[in-house]
Order: sequence, then structure tokens, then C-alpha cells
Amino acid sequence: MSDLPLDAESAAHQRFVAAARSYWRGPLFRTLHAQARGAPDAGRDLVTHRYFAWLERHLQRMKYSGPRGLAAIAQRSRDALVALPFAPPPGLLTLDPTLVPPAYYTACDIHQQPGGLLAELGAHVYRAGVTGGVVDAATLHERFATRIVGDSRVERILDLGCGFGRGTLAFTRAAPAAHVDGVDIAASCVILAARETPAALHGRVAFRQAEATTSGLPGGTYDIVTSTMLLHEMPQAAVRALIVETARLLRPGGIVAHLDFLPPADPVLRLLFEGHARRNNEPYLLEHSRIDLARAYADAGFTHVEATPFDEEDGALATPPRVWRLPWHTIVARKP
Ligand SMILES: C[S@@+](CC[C@H](N)C(=O)[O-])C[C@H]1O[C@@H](n2cnc3c(N)ncnc32)[C@H](O)[C@@H]1O
Repeated sequence: MSDLPLDAESAAHQRFVAAARSYWRGPLFRTLHAQARGAPDAGRDLVTHRYFAWLERHLQRMKYSGPRGLAAIAQRSRDALVALPFAPPPGLLTLDPTLVPPAYYTACDIHQQPGGLLAELGAHVYRAGVTGGVVDAATLHERFATRIVGDSRVERILDLGCGFGRGTLAFTRAAPAAHVDGVDIAASCVILAARETPAALHGRVAFRQAEATTSGLPGGTYDIVTSTMLLHEMPQAAVRALIVETARLLRPGGIVAHLDFLPPADPVLRLLFEGHARRNNEPYLLEHSRIDLARAYADAGFTHVEATPFDEEDGALATPPRVWRLPWHTIVARKP
């Protein structure tokens, strides 16, 4: 869903980008995968690979940048977007205007989004950008939340790096009796998340602007600490600090459950995953992949550490894959 009003030319531009991305992700990917299997160096030097890589980089740029890109579209609607009436009820939204984001967070425009999520309209641009994209499978967050909660009785859940609240709200549906907190470093994200929280959930959901590694939330209280697509945005030292913070936040017997990306074994898919890190401005994607998460969690005292491939929609784990997809995994561990 996007709330960005599109003029006719911007709409045509964005439709073109979406159609070209469908070709890139589907037929072109399938051709490349078939050609590259068994080719030297996983097909790195194939013309099809170069074409695939060029399209990935430049279609992403065209989506966000330039006069018909989402950042400019949002800016043209700025006055209307910031003027939207919003009076959050007590407890729904906590902002921290003194928060200074770590240098790694501001060092580059992640996903090629100009200004990233710290920009005033960052969350609106991000939401429009993910709509219909590779991290927007309709069942992604619901499926993850339902599997993690299962039939266990859960009272408190914390969603770290909650963005505009997709995972947070999915957990409220998976655990209808639970209180769910969402934390994100970007004010634009928690404001949009709070703004869109249905009134029926007021009192059950709270969004807070904070650094995930120093959340300021009370320790020993959460049954589940979770995140979707957070770990790969953090350098190794920050991921290790996050593991320590997670151990502090969980109650004994609680679980940590991340949904993130781990490198595929198939050499062609691995080449494309590594290229994606560069082409999508994901400076820590590969660094995060190099951490032995099982060991890092075990070292922090967690037990039953498991990393499992995750099917974001039916048939997603089929081989060969029908479309280019990110190598989703759940990473789950229990605090004794
Ligand atoms: C790729 S987005 C995913 C958002 C959301 N979890 C979802 O599934 O749509 C990553 C989010 O993590 C947040 N983030 C990154 N580093 C963070 C940190 N150190 N502390 C808190 N939030 C962080 C970003 O602001 C962003 O909203």
C-alpha cells in the first residue's frame, strides 16, 4: 500500500520500473540461472549476468531517484503528508529527539533510497518502494509471526527494527492476547507505524524510537524478541551487541526469532546474492552473513539455536527457483 499521490507521468514511470523489474526477476533470472549452472565462475562473465546486474542496480535507482522517483514524488506531497492530523493516544508513540544514530546507519543510502529512513518522509518513501517488490510477499510477515508464536501463550513481544510496523502488527494478529512493542531508530518509521495502528489495538501496541542495541526497555520481560530484516543492516559489532541486549530483554524461557538473509548454497544464487549487496547498497549484508550466529547466540547463553530456510510464500523454496528471491531464514534461539 502506498499513500503517495502519483501524477500521470510519475505513475507511468513507476509502472515501467515495476514491469521491468518483473522481467528482471522472472524470465531474465530463469534464463541466467539455466545458462550459469555449470558455467565457469558461476556465470559471472556471462552477458546475461551483466545485463541482470545492470538492470538490478539501475531499476532500483529509477524507482527512488530522479524527478519521477519516489523520493521526489514524496517531496512534492510533503505539505499534505506532514499536515495529516495525528494525535496519538498516551503510550502509543515515544520519540527521542536526542537520539544520535550510529555512523554505520548514516554512512550510505541503504537500498539506494535517497536520504534513507532518517529523511522526514523516509518511511513513506520506503513503504512505497517495498510495495510489490522482493520483500513484499503478501504472506511474509503473517507467515513468520504465526510460525513463531504457534499455539504458545504469549504476553509480551518486542519487534526490533520494526520499520512502519508490518511485523509488529502481524504479531498482534498471531498472538491476540499479547502486548507488542515496536522499536526503530527512525522517527519517520515509528510515526507512520503508530499513525496506521488501528484504534482497536491502542493499548496493546506501543512504538518507540530507539537504538535496538540500547532499547531502554525493561529487562527480563519479553516472551519473544523478534526482528524482520534488521540483522543484515547492522555491522558485526552491532549484531553482537544486539544479541547481548536480546538476552537482557527476554524472560527465562523466552525466545529470540529473527527473519533475515543467509547466503544460499547454490553457487549461482550465491553470486547473485553477493552482487545484490553491492547493487542494493547493503554494506553489511555479507558481513552479517559471515557471523556464526549459532555460535554467537550460544556464547551469549542461548540454547536450541536454529537457522532454517523460510518460504515467504507457497513454493518459494522450489529448485530451481521460479523468480529471483532473497534467501530468507529464520534464526531462532531460546534463553534458558
Ligand atoms: C529493512 S527495514 C525492515 C523493517 C521492518 N522490520 C519490516 O519488516 O518491514 C530495517 C529497519 O531496521 C531499522 N534499523 C536499522 N538499524 C537499526 C538499529 N540499530 N536500531 C533500530 N532500528 C534499526 C531501520 O530503520 C529500518 O526501519
